[in-house]
Amino acid sequence: MIAVGSDHGGLELKKFIMKYLDEAKIEYKDLGTYTSGSVDYPVYGKRVVDAILSKECDKGILICGTGIGISIMANRYKGIRAALCSDCFSAEATRLHNDANVLALGGRVLGEELALKIVKTFLETPFSEDERHKRRVEMLENF
Ligand code: RB5
Repeated sequence: MIAVGSDHGGLELKKFIMKYLDEAKIEYKDLGTYTSGSVDYPVYGKRVVDAILSKECDKGILICGTGIGISIMANRYKGIRAALCSDCFSAEATRLHNDANVLALGGRVLGEELALKIVKTFLETPFSEDERHKRRVEMLENF
C-alpha cells in the first residue's frame, strides 16, 4: 500500500500519478490535500510519515512545489528515508542503495511524463540487499 500526499503545489501532479496507480491497479491511500487552496506542506508530509511508521503503508509519494519542503519534513523522522528525485537514475539508485521508502517530487519542477517514469522506476526497483548498502542504511537509522 502506498501513501500519497501533496500540498497545493503538488496537487495536479498527485492527481496525474494517482490516475496511473488506478490504471496499474496499485493500491494507495490519498492523504490529501484534496483542493487547490493553499495549505502547509508539513501537514501532508506528516500524514504520509505516520502511514508508513504505523505500517499501514510500506512506501510513500510526497509532492510539493519543489519537493524540497515536504522531503525535509519526512526526513526528520527515524525510519523514513525520503529521496527527492528529478531523474530516473536517482530514483533507481535510491531504491538500490538507500532502500528509500518515500519518493519526493516537485510538482512545479517536473513534467508529468518524466514524473511518472520516476514513480515507476522507484516502485519497480527493489533494494539491492548488498551487505555494504545494508550497513549504510543501518547507519542512517542508528548512528
Ligand atoms: C508552496 O508555495 C511551496 O512553498 C511548497 O509547495 C514547496 O515548494 C515547499 O518546499
